[in-house]
Amino acid sequence: MSIVYNSSKKTFSLHTAGTTYQLKIGNLNYVKHLYYGARIPDEDLIYLVRRYDRGFSGNPYDSLKERTFSLDAQPQEFTTQQQGDFRINSIEVQNADGSFSFNGRYVSHQIYKGPFTLHGLPTAFADEQDTVDTLELTIEDSVSKVQVTLLYSVFEEKNIIMRAARVRNGGDGRISLKRIMSLNMDYLNGKDLDLISLPGRYGQERQIERQPLTHHVHKIRSGRGISSHQQNPFIALAERTATEDYGSAYGFALMYSGSFLAEVELDQYDQARLVMGINDRLFSYPVDPGQEFDTPAVLMTYTHKGLTKMSHTYHNFIRSNLNRSKFVRDVRRPVLINTWEAAFFNFDDEKLIEIAKAAKGMGVEMIVMDDGWFGKRDDDNSGLGDWYVNEKKIKCGLTELVRQINDLGMKFGIWFEPEMVSEDSDLFRAHPDWVMEIPGRHAVRSRNQLVLDVGRKEVQDYLIESVNRILDSANIYYVKWDINRAITDLWSNALTADEQGEVSHRYVLGLYRVMDGIIKTHPDIMFEGCAGGGGRFDTAMLTYFVQYWSSDNTKPLDNLKLHYGSSFLYPVCTMGAHVSEASPMVPFETKAAIAMCGTFGYELDATKMKKKEIRACKKMSELYHKYYDLNFFGDYYRLSNPFEQVNLVAWETVSKDRLEALVTVITVNLTVNGPQEYIKCKGLIADQYYQLERDGICLVTASGMALMHGGIPIPREILEFTAFLYHLKATSTGDGSHGSFDE
Ligand code: DGJ
Repeated sequence: MSIVYNSSKKTFSLHTAGTTYQLKIGNLNYVKHLYYGARIPDEDLIYLVRRYDRGFSGNPYDSLKERTFSLDAQPQEFTTQQQGDFRINSIEVQNADGSFSFNGRYVSHQIYKGPFTLHGLPTAFADEQDTVDTLELTIEDSVSKVQVTLLYSVFEEKNIIMRAARVRNGGDGRISLKRIMSLNMDYLNGKDLDLISLPGRYGQERQIERQPLTHHVHKIRSGRGISSHQQNPFIALAERTATEDYGSAYGFALMYSGSFLAEVELDQYDQARLVMGINDRLFSYPVDPGQEFDTPAVLMTYTHKGLTKMSHTYHNFIRSNLNRSKFVRDVRRPVLINTWEAAFFNFDDEKLIEIAKAAKGMGVEMIVMDDGWFGKRDDDNSGLGDWYVNEKKIKCGLTELVRQINDLGMKFGIWFEPEMVSEDSDLFRAHPDWVMEIPGRHAVRSRNQLVLDVGRKEVQDYLIESVNRILDSANIYYVKWDINRAITDLWSNALTADEQGEVSHRYVLGLYRVMDGIIKTHPDIMFEGCAGGGGRFDTAMLTYFVQYWSSDNTKPLDNLKLHYGSSFLYPVCTMGAHVSEASPMVPFETKAAIAMCGTFGYELDATKMKKKEIRACKKMSELYHKYYDLNFFGDYYRLSNPFEQVNLVAWETVSKDRLEALVTVITVNLTVNGPQEYIKCKGLIADQYYQLERDGICLVTASGMALMHGGIPIPREILEFTAFLYHLKATSTGDGSHGSFDE
């Protein structure tokens, strides 16, 4: 059992292979948080929590004359303001009597095997080899009878704890949740912690920022109805001295695709508190007697071995515990060409066949027909919502087009943007009340489109039926599911006036139901997510999509930063990345090497390419397959930071048995007459010899120790933007023989 309850000490110790999380039923039945860190034995860590008479920090009434017990200074598992704890908090509930009190005390708990699941929200599942145990611990306000059950699933071997909260209205009147967080994490000492987040913007998603905690509330949030380009629902808290290889780091990834919030406060006594969950802005959720409300889950991890180790934990978990699609592990994903940057809306069936024929020579295995194939859609001003084939463009019909593509030996993929509607569409003309628009006002337009009220059942049913009809009409192998605007005008014509605070969250729940009805019912189709690039790239989406289009920005040098930032949470196999015509000064080979740090494909007009370029692409497509296992399943190491002034940007993937590796180096700058530079490998076996090859030529045979501590000397007399792919393979010949490096 990874969860140990000590009934005499009233402690719960949640153990993963490398971590322990401890909580305790403490004074007056408040649930205290005692510890999250490196694994320890089953001991009671209450000695860590000291108590003092703190001025202006009140004491619960039933602590009587005891002035040292204040919730304002005690570490807790779930927090509320109305009991004298003035820090950021986990729950704000308006009770049936209008009051805002919630005084949650322990009432019960249960421990069981397997992970928890949530009503209508995605969660992680147990892989075949996993040991997973769950603790459900319930606190209750004895007056309102509102209960909160804290859920903890411990994925022992994976070093992940999944948390969430479930509110149950045990009273006899309607309550209203104004804030309900998935998690509360208290740190007894937070002054040496840095906050790491992934801010960005459209076209520049998931850049990285690291800042020290100071005495105020740090907010990382999206209020855009999608997890957003501007922030990602992931943060890490790391010791100030933590590096890639050393030091403590805590990771928190929220499995939610709508407006979210992470707040971190360094309090007056240098304690830190983190809360994370649904954004409480424009949120107000009524819960009727006997009803429950579930928060989304958070995946949290801890390591004292640095940020790389934290990323590896997430990469392993995302690859094995979120998505059961056969395209995660068992079926190789094909090299694809997408028509968007090749043709935009300007294509027909003949053009698609021409692109497919030309792309075959590039080693492409699948053509994806992007936006523009349906309804009346010649630009982005019309047609969304009309999910039937535009027969002026696809004259032979979809079934026949796919057949012809298949006859060329290619697979076929298709694009949808289900959640949106154009005012110039049959759908809007038939159902103007299905959009989110506040009565008496006009909805905000964005890309000249409106948002469907996806929280509404009829809308969900229409989407499931109309998208499935297309998917079932032809031999479709792949779907790109897009969304191209943020969500505004929170209003549903299906809800009453006092239920409008539910709209934003209901949208997300509705979306998951639609995806269940389309994606989960088509296990043989590979689904990629997209939100004008990476605007809704999150761990909840990865339970549906095996990969996510990282960014509409296909400039290779920008992608170096994008991949670097994203890699803190997301593995290579989830990051959609294509070679395009952007940045003509960068050679195709280099663009391909960078796209191989993602799922690899092309975004260009194959019919316009020169023979030489076609040959170059073919070679790169072959390399993608050659290194597929390393890149998709290996351990990923960031070897240099592209946000710093570096001449070389480098990363490495190492096979799980550590007998093979691929080191990619891109020269982003060449200093005239500069020093010799070296890239030091990571993750190799110290006393194992490796053959270091480039372009099939052995450069040297060297030990793991030499490669990790001496490194690889990178040639200087070269062109800028050259890519070096160094392939390392273990060899038994430790005779020190040297290849072409020997001088
Ligand atoms: C935004 C996506 O990111 C692009 O790749 C493309 O699919 C367009 N939408 C189509 O409208």
